[in-house]
Amino acid sequence: MQTKQRVFSGIQPSGASHLGTYLGALKNWVAVQEEYESYFCIVDLHALTVPQDPKVLRANVREMAAIFIAVGLDPERSIIFRQSRVAEHTELGWLLNCIARVGELSRMTQFKDKSQKGGAESASVALYDYPVLQAADILLYNAHLVPVGEDQRQHLELSRTLARRFNSLYGETFVVPEPMILETGARVMALDDPTRKMSKSSPTPGGYVSLLDEPDVTRRKIRRAKTDSGSEVTASPEKPALTNLLGIYAGLTVQSVSGIEDQYQGKGYGDFKKDLAEVVVESLSPIRERTLELLDDPRELDGILEAGAEKAREVARSTLHHTWARMGLD
Ligand code: AMP
Ligand code: TRP
Repeated sequence: MQTKQRVFSGIQPSGASHLGTYLGALKNWVAVQEEYESYFCIVDLHALTVPQDPKVLRANVREMAAIFIAVGLDPERSIIFRQSRVAEHTELGWLLNCIARVGELSRMTQFKDKSQKGGAESASVALYDYPVLQAADILLYNAHLVPVGEDQRQHLELSRTLARRFNSLYGETFVVPEPMILETGARVMALDDPTRKMSKSSPTPGGYVSLLDEPDVTRRKIRRAKTDSGSEVTASPEKPALTNLLGIYAGLTVQSVSGIEDQYQGKGYGDFKKDLAEVVVESLSPIRERTLELLDDPRELDGILEAGAEKAREVARSTLHHTWARMGLD
């Protein structure tokens, strides 16, 4: 019997998890795990939509698992697993491909952005189809809530559309999931260019703070972060850089942006950045240290992922069978 509502979310194991991933996703996952039956997935099949070195991918999956636990996800409470180990994701993905429309996928801005880089002609078919696999991830567990950053809103809308379409074609089958996108931290921008999202594929390492950066590297990146003209520490549309830095400060402390603005009245950017650097280092150092400790025992991490996959498979199997029956595949 399912008693609690479910949460599902995923992160790609493509290296260099950063402040954006932490504030936009991981931190909120930790907050919801008490209240919901939670599924947190390392979406390795999604990572394969762009070329990956097998050795690096293998290492990144473990690193991601270590980060999950280091930020505070509890494998006793939450189901932590890797996508490729639960074959039902790709099976349901195919079934959903049969109701998803080319027009819908063609409108996905992430595909447009990513495929533009190498040319749409040579982008993988999987990169195009990626949002359908994402919908399968979520619908397979009948998740009610999906905590993600702002950049996933459009993908989540497609998951909702596919759930509704399936239900109306074949009868009530899937829960229509709600995105959970918090105001603070939903869109952390690059430190060296506040018009760009902080991203793993950021061309300049100065643009992001990795969760595994050494404290001095973090301090330097914050110190060098771009600021706006003027000298007051305030958030406003004319001050995109300061707005971003204030958002990071607020996301990592329990303070509101306006409270922080008050605190820095009459002080300059330099003072603010110095304190922000310490806030970031204090928040991330324990995560970094715990991750490195956990990486010393890869077997333990593999065991956690395998145990999680076993539990996930049970739920996934049952949803898939139900879906088969609805479609006449039983
Ligand atoms: P990814 O690392 O691209 O798989 O993203 C993992 C999660 O982190 C997703 O929920 C994203 O929406 C979120 N995320 C990634 N980058 C940022 C960012 N710069 N600001 C806020 N959230 C982000
Ligand atoms: N597309 C998401 C990202 O790049 C990762 C993802 C895959 C995901 N499947 C998901 C997120 C299901 C939430 C739910 O960040």
